Amino acid sequence: MSELVVLGIETSCDDTAAAVVVGDEVRSSVIAGQLEIHDRFGGVVPELASRAHVDAIVATVRVALERAGLDPTRPGLDLVAATSGPGLIGSLLVGLSFAKAASAAWGVPYVGVNHLEAHLFAPTLEGAAEHYPRVVLLVSGGHTELVAVRGRGEYDVLGATIDDAAGEAFDKVARYLGLGYPGGPAIDALAASGDPTAFRFPRALRDRPFEFSFSGLKTSVVRTVEKYPDASTADLCASFQRAVTDVLVDKTMAAVDAISARSVALAGGVAANRELRERLTARCAEEGIDCALASPAFCTDNAAMVAAAGAYQFLRDGASHRDLAPDPSRQLLRATSHLE
Ligand code: KG4
Ligand code: ZN
Repeated sequence: MSELVVLGIETSCDDTAAAVVVGDEVRSSVIAGQLEIHDRFGGVVPELASRAHVDAIVATVRVALERAGLDPTRPGLDLVAATSGPGLIGSLLVGLSFAKAASAAWGVPYVGVNHLEAHLFAPTLEGAAEHYPRVVLLVSGGHTELVAVRGRGEYDVLGATIDDAAGEAFDKVARYLGLGYPGGPAIDALAASGDPTAFRFPRALRDRPFEFSFSGLKTSVVRTVEKYPDASTADLCASFQRAVTDVLVDKTMAAVDAISARSVALAGGVAANRELRERLTARCAEEGIDCALASPAFCTDNAAMVAAAGAYQFLRDGASHRDLAPDPSRQLLRATSHLE
């Protein structure tokens, strides 16, 4: 187990985040969100996001170092790790450039980390036992993937969405229902007081075990509201969320069967969803396998997961090149060829 003192930096979308992780211990994790900047636009505005990262990055890093008990002028780090993709190019540039500058100024190495791989590390951040092989359902605003994980940093993508990501479906439906951005937490909260059987929304691609499709679901919600304009928003949310979680849970458990997994984990922003967490926990209990759920704060974008993934990457492959460029469309690649 590495005992490296790592500063993680995450700026792939609309959160400026910094964290200090030592070995497996999160010493600090600070997130400066931009909700009030993007809220009135109903989604993230890339140019505003990168400017806000520029404004927030220095203070966010300073607070993360101070909360970890380090001196911000001479923090004594072993490594700086920043997200290099996927994400918004202008946002990625801010964090990665900061990491390069900090590494030069402090004389420590840096690594550019795959944001999606970092999400896979979230379930390892709180000291829970790790049982492999593990199926990780990675569900965020931009991605929905089922990943077979054989050990830290060793994985294969089993399948992904063929259109919208699960989080995107939450955000689009929430926007349509006038619930603001991001939609996931709003739908999650309202669904608690609604009837999940009030409306029957489609469960797509039942015949393709590891692939997902959510684009038809939003259309179906729109059609339903057109037909029943007085429908309760809570019932719509609960029924929509039931359709999404049905598909996510069933396909995850199919993946468990396929690879004889010993544990299941959730990662990505949608992993904060209460119904998804409860239902997956229940199914895993029925199957007698471990269900590793990171705290919601480590499921959504954060820099602790970037630090953890960065430490692993550095120990295996060394530092990244000075001229590493951000890669907005970086993928979660198969097997062992996924690092710089
Ligand atoms: O991983 P994340 O913070 O950012 C990236 O996309 O990388 O995920 C954000 C997504 C958004 O689509 C948001 O609506 C969704 O995660 N989300 C949720 C919940 N909290 C966040 N979706 C459903 N239920 C939630 N409680
Ligand atoms: Zn993310």
